[in-house]
Amino acid sequence: MTTAEAIRVSPEWLDLRERADAAARSPDLVRHLRRLTSRGPLVVHDLACGSGSMGRWLAPLLPGPQHWILHDRDPDLLTLAGATVPGPAADGADITVETRPSDVTRLGRDELAGASLVTASALLDLLTADELLGLMRTCAGAGCPVVLTLSVTGRVQLRPADPLDARVAASFDEHQRRVTPRGRKLGPDAVHAAIEGFRRLGAEVVVRPSPWRLGATDSDLAVEWLTGWVDAACEQEPSLAFDAELYRRRRLREAAAGALAVTVGHADLLVLP
Ligand SMILES: C[S@@+](CC[C@H](N)C(=O)[O-])C[C@H]1O[C@@H](n2cnc3c(N)ncnc32)[C@H](O)[C@@H]1O
Repeated sequence: MTTAEAIRVSPEWLDLRERADAAARSPDLVRHLRRLTSRGPLVVHDLACGSGSMGRWLAPLLPGPQHWILHDRDPDLLTLAGATVPGPAADGADITVETRPSDVTRLGRDELAGASLVTASALLDLLTADELLGLMRTCAGAGCPVVLTLSVTGRVQLRPADPLDARVAASFDEHQRRVTPRGRKLGPDAVHAAIEGFRRLGAEVVVRPSPWRLGATDSDLAVEWLTGWVDAACEQEPSLAFDAELYRRRRLREAAAGALAVTVGHADLLVLP
């Protein structure tokens, strides 16, 4: 999990969350998208692809031959992403993949030339306002639909409730908004900033909720998420540490026993040029 600037996202974390991500992303936006895209061949640029989970989810839901161009700044994740070709397409057509080492906030307009679709997942909340603006301008310049899934909204609900939930959540959100050498991260403000920003650039934006709903069958992911959530809150607010340690133990016991239900709010955006 990413907890500090320049800390790399581990492949193990991406692997652990892939099933919950696939279940959370909005099928309704895919239905919209299928009406908009031709039957191919499609050229899809997946920005900040990680180990390639977006392609594994979306490519089989779209018809026609597809060429996926996977961008990330992490060379190890790119190698992983390039090693697994997703698909086949919804109608059995072939899918091909290439990888490109890129800082997706600094792409030149030409780098998305010829794109039929641009995608990104679990990215926007990691960006600063300037980085998001650069990304939005590049996407708008590509002149094709853009699908941006799983941006955190800051809405977290745990059942059963605990008196410390709200304080941990508020400190975690502030940690997401922390100042880094690249500027202040948007964290839970990213969705609003992206909707406003794309609309100002003249695009239509369709928004759908895409929460993780973690129950007894997702206890491994719930435990890992909870650990990172509490750690980040304590890093942001060190005076929370004593209470948070007891809270963490209570919550981890509940999660391991399958007695904790966690909803982590995300939003998916479909941007139409
Ligand atoms: C939370 S992971 C999501 C990965 C993948 N999209 C997924 O849904 O599984 C965030 C990814 O963004 C990448 N990343 C973050 N900032 C980036 C940037 N400026 N340029 C390229 N990649 C970036 C990280 O290396 C990481 O792979």
